[in-house]
Amino acid sequence: MHAPAPDNQFALDVRAGLTQPEQKTLPCRYLYDDIGSTLFEAITFLPEYGLTRADTRIIEAHADHLLDCLPPGLLIAELGSGSGAKTRTILQAVGQRQKAIYYPIDTSAAALARCAKELSPLGTVVPLEMDYLDGLRAVAAARAPGQRLLVLFLGSTIGNFEPGAAIDFVASIRQELAPRDALLLGTDLVKPTAQLLDAYDDPTGVTAAFNLNLLGRINRELQGDFDLRQFAHVIRYHEEAQRIEMHLRSRVYQIVSIRRADLIVDFGAGETICTEACHKFYLEQVETMAGAAGFRLEQQWVDEEWGFAENLLICP
Ligand code: AVI
Repeated sequence: MHAPAPDNQFALDVRAGLTQPEQKTLPCRYLYDDIGSTLFEAITFLPEYGLTRADTRIIEAHADHLLDCLPPGLLIAELGSGSGAKTRTILQAVGQRQKAIYYPIDTSAAALARCAKELSPLGTVVPLEMDYLDGLRAVAAARAPGQRLLVLFLGSTIGNFEPGAAIDFVASIRQELAPRDALLLGTDLVKPTAQLLDAYDDPTGVTAAFNLNLLGRINRELQGDFDLRQFAHVIRYHEEAQRIEMHLRSRVYQIVSIRRADLIVDFGAGETICTEACHKFYLEQVETMAGAAGFRLEQQWVDEEWGFAENLLICP
């Protein structure tokens, strides 16, 4: 008997990714269900993964300077609301100057609820459970004439896009903005390979659990029968492409069925599924990307301890 045809986007994406003729893939956005988001939050505390702490350090050190670079009367919109820790510092600095109005945009209702609970003491929080660009469009449409917008895209999530798609995405943000609006963009910088390998394959195994949970999610939501113990978390660094990749490697030859994706797929021993690519940047590449997307790079603040840059992009 045949399973019903895939009836949701997750099922369609899983089927498309696992039937690729060469490298099997799964889109990294599916890493973040409730368990995955909690594991990612744990990653940000690992000694080996300094990215989030670096991002926070820069914002804590430069929030006032950031606001000095921008016109008064700002609305703040954030793409991906995260734990809210970094945004807290920005809203506190804004609150010293004006009433803070903050729009977190995320597809996870749980993340938005957490963020609203944490940050509403600091100003008006208007959560938008939407795709990033739809949310941004809604914020831009709701603003009063002359009100300027600061968009936050922190944590180097831009590095999870392929380079061409990253430019296109930043250009799509630009399209929703008006002159003197701004984008604060976090970018993780190229660093020694050993440091990157440790950051993405930590000895505690939290990143491995984060990666394997994607197969667990397929089992839970799509009636898959992946045996998680038969896959290993593997990291590859492509120096020329400045890209670290997460893979799940099949330990044996095996056949997996995913009922709600109407799929039976086999894996050779040693075959991998690529689950995430994390691109690292040189400072000048961020300036090039900003220009190609229609922004002017106003300022770059760098955390030398980890190798991370917060970039302030202005709409000319
Ligand atoms: C969300 N993103 C910026 C993280 C990164 O470093 O690319 C995701 C992550 N994957 C493994 N560890 C962290």
